[in-house]
Amino acid sequence: MTPRIVLGLWLAAACTPRGDTGPAETDADADADTDADTDADADPATWSGDVHPVLTDSCMGCHQDAMPMALTGDPAADYDTVVPYTDVADPSGSTLYEAATGIAHAAVLAEGSAEAGALLSWMAAGARED
Ligand code: HEC
Repeated sequence: MTPRIVLGLWLAAACTPRGDTGPAETDADADADTDADTDADADPATWSGDVHPVLTDSCMGCHQDAMPMALTGDPAADYDTVVPYTDVADPSGSTLYEAATGIAHAAVLAEGSAEAGALLSWMAAGARED
């Protein structure tokens, strides 16, 4: 049950209106990494500890070699590959999340699962290579 509560907090943080942000908010690599820090009880998911293992376990079977988003198992190389599919301003609307949960291609991760939640949490916190 904890993952569900935590996911709710993530979603609440991700969906909180922040005024008139508009389409110009593309500063994904800015230092404003405290933006999504609502000081919830849960730490955001990390790339190396949470997200990369999900991707290697659940996605790399197909996503390697000539595939789009080809993964290698190396966290640093795979980070550069995966980041273009993220959206820190709209994690659940990202190509990464939509593909993983069955909107852009067949579902691999169930919405509401800990694995899908890790993707959202990581993006909501800025999709950092941490
Ligand atoms: C059973 C094989 C398979 C698995 C497992 C799989 N994918 Fe895919 N994925 C594909 C194929 C095939 C494509 C390219 C064709 C398409 O988009 O449907 C693709 C495309 C994508 C794209 C690019 C979509 C675009 O619009 O460019 C992303 C992102 C993606 N997958 C993410 C994931 C993630 C994240 C996972 C794991 C949670 C995953 N995939 C697991 C087969 C797979």
